[in-house]
Amino acid sequence: MKKVTKAIIPAAGLGTRFLPETKAVPKEMLPIIDTPTIQYIVEEAKQSGITDLAIVIGAGKGAIEDHFSSNYMLEQNLKEKNKLDMLESVQKTNDMNIYFIRQAYPKGLGDAVLTAKTFIGRDPFVVMLGDDLMKDEVPLTQQLINSYEKSGASTLAVMRVPHEETSKYGVIDPVDKVNDEVYDVRQFVEKPSPEEAPSDLAIIGRYLFNADILDVLETTKPGKGNEVQLTDAIDTLNKTQRVFAHEFKGERFDTGNKLSWLETNIEFGLKRADISADLKDYLIDLGKKLDK
Ligand code: UTP
Repeated sequence: MKKVTKAIIPAAGLGTRFLPETKAVPKEMLPIIDTPTIQYIVEEAKQSGITDLAIVIGAGKGAIEDHFSSNYMLEQNLKEKNKLDMLESVQKTNDMNIYFIRQAYPKGLGDAVLTAKTFIGRDPFVVMLGDDLMKDEVPLTQQLINSYEKSGASTLAVMRVPHEETSKYGVIDPVDKVNDEVYDVRQFVEKPSPEEAPSDLAIIGRYLFNADILDVLETTKPGKGNEVQLTDAIDTLNKTQRVFAHEFKGERFDTGNKLSWLETNIEFGLKRADISADLKDYLIDLGKKLDK
């Protein structure tokens, strides 16, 4: 079986839920404390053994290219000033092969994945959404790779969500449990209402596919929202081969909406040695004020 070493990060969406900020700044570059969201995702890829990464971008996304290009002047300056921690923080993923691919129009996640067809060839690959952070002892991408190495089947990450929230996600209709964490899936449904939802297991921002998904995407018509939906293509793929769902039990931070982005900053801040004590004092004081 071919080792999984390639990943795609679709980052060409318009980020309308974050306007006006995202008029000029890609939402994938919004910081969590001092680090762009997409940097955490690239680090998850690296920790999971991914060596070749394609980031799908479009108009106004140049800041992502700049962020992942090494900045010689800055690095020299930090070296001369002996700011070695900072130097390390800007060099962390310099050793990865990062490619940029253009999606002509933001026609949906499925279309964004299809733009990387030449990059993927016939290799298995991971799709990592550019605004979805996952935390667990074993990185979720590594968990998917481990699952895939056992089954050889395309495998998506799912997570239990409150039933009333199913309409925000693609949701699976599970048949059987293959093991403690993996489900065989009957059907994938894009954004079902709670009444129609076949389960509470929602597709989250990590997917591992074999290259057949690209053939399916080529003939997938625009679906909900007139966008080429990845979930529709997955459902079609599932008709001719097994597709599994791997249940993620760690923590997920959706940084693509305002409230959740704020919460993510607070939670990450509480774990950062340089600011956690002051942030905690501030939150306790704020809590007292709000209680009055
Ligand atoms: P989202 O639907 O969360 O992103 O897609 P969006 O469309 O940018 O955001 P809103 O809904 O308008 O606020 C998940 C990921 O897929 C990428 C996005 O950049 C995001 O990281 N994406 C989405 C693409 O690359 N191309 C697309 O056509 C759509």
